Amino acid sequence: MIPHRRLFTLLAAAAVGLLSAALARGEGSPPAAPLAPPASFSAIADPAELSAAYFAELSKVLTSPRCTNCHPAGDRPRQGDAARPHQPPVFRGPDGKGLTSLRCAMCHREANFDPAGMPGHPHWQLAPAEMAWEGKTPREICIQIKEPARNGGRSVEDLIAHIGDDTLVGWAWAPGGGRTPAPGTQAEAKALVRAWVESGAVCPK
Ligand code: HEC
Ligand code: HEC
Repeated sequence: MIPHRRLFTLLAAAAVGLLSAALARGEGSPPAAPLAPPASFSAIADPAELSAAYFAELSKVLTSPRCTNCHPAGDRPRQGDAARPHQPPVFRGPDGKGLTSLRCAMCHREANFDPAGMPGHPHWQLAPAEMAWEGKTPREICIQIKEPARNGGRSVEDLIAHIGDDTLVGWAWAPGGGRTPAPGTQAEAKALVRAWVESGAVCPK
């Protein structure tokens, strides 16, 4: 009789081990959609059209739920690939880190906690209301993202490093919890921002 119990314990331990190893490797997440490199647009002869094409490609990232869930239209973040309203209900609060009663950091810790599908980062907080992208067209996001009054006082050049190197933005490519990562890689997104900025930062029509 005892061997049965032991066998069960061993099998259960092995199953937990395999599961956590799979989660640690990020298995269970759908693959990221591809992002075209700047060079693939070389057939476009018109310089303005070319610049706008770089942004249109980049907007595949900007409009992905990994970004818009934290850049929502209202005061409530969204969750998952379907971008449903955050459960439990949490709100922006005065500093983007939640109301006094329910602060983001009470649940969102320094890093992802995959066994619970819990996203994490030391600076987890909602993007300010003037930086909302949810429901906007690539052209609308483009116009807004270039405006220092609505982009945190940045120049377009500053956007290269912010999108290309910021680790909170980078979370979107390693989101864990079975979420689809943002398209391409952060380095590929950076190359597109750079190409767009260096070609005059033209917005798509
Ligand atoms: C009571 C716990 C709790 C609090 C407080 C909380 N969250 Fe969450 N949040 C969760 C859980 C659990 C998940 C994962 C569930 C899921 O994605 O389906 C989550 C997921 C998210 C996601 C989804 C990411 C994605 O793309 O799928 C965002 C964005 C988010 N939270 C933002 C916030 C912000 C911003 C705050 C503070 C204003 C906050 N959360 C406060 C529990 C909490
Ligand atoms: C956990 C929430 C969160 C996620 C996820 C997130 N952001 Fe943000 N984002 C913020 C916050 C907070 C700010 C404001 C901080 C600042 O200005 O430095 C911000 C600001 C920005 C800005 C500068 C302001 C603007 O609108 O021009 C850009 C660009 C940006 N984010 C890009 C992205 C991209 C691209 C993604 C997805 C790949 C992303 N963010 C995902 C929270 C988030």
